[in-house]
Amino acid sequence: MTVSKPQLYRELAEQLTALLANEANRVANAANAVALIYHGLADLNWAGFYFRDGAELVLGPFQGKPACVRIPVGKGVCGTAAARAEPVLVPDIHDFPGHIACDPDSRSELVVPLIEAGAVSGVLDLDSPRPGRFDEEDRIGCQRLTELFVNHHR
Ligand code: SME
Repeated sequence: MTVSKPQLYRELAEQLTALLANEANRVANAANAVALIYHGLADLNWAGFYFRDGAELVLGPFQGKPACVRIPVGKGVCGTAAARAEPVLVPDIHDFPGHIACDPDSRSELVVPLIEAGAVSGVLDLDSPRPGRFDEEDRIGCQRLTELFVNHHR
């Protein structure tokens, strides 16, 4: 039997908590977090972090093909999520003006900002080759994962 999405995200949250335990290094923890997410969720072609550096987002640990290194805050799906300090769910990237195409296989995207002390310190970006891959349950589940990540490094 396949598990429900909320149950899957509960299991990922438990596994992420275990992976983060006893390690404070943000890069190492980000690398393990995206490996967990990339292999734990179906139909992804890219999963990774971008961390904020002033007015830009800079590529962090990821799984997938090489990607754009710097994205201005306010540009693309990632920069839009960072500027709004809100998740952005794009069912079909062809319908999102200004989408930055890193991997031509990507068709849908979910970007969740990392909110640290009230400010955006980065984003978690998930891409799928399947249009409509992400829904509200993914948004809620991924927000929980980013909260765990941020709270661990406070
Ligand atoms: N598509 C993103 C760029 C990052 S890659 O997908 C890894 C965007 O529009 O911000």
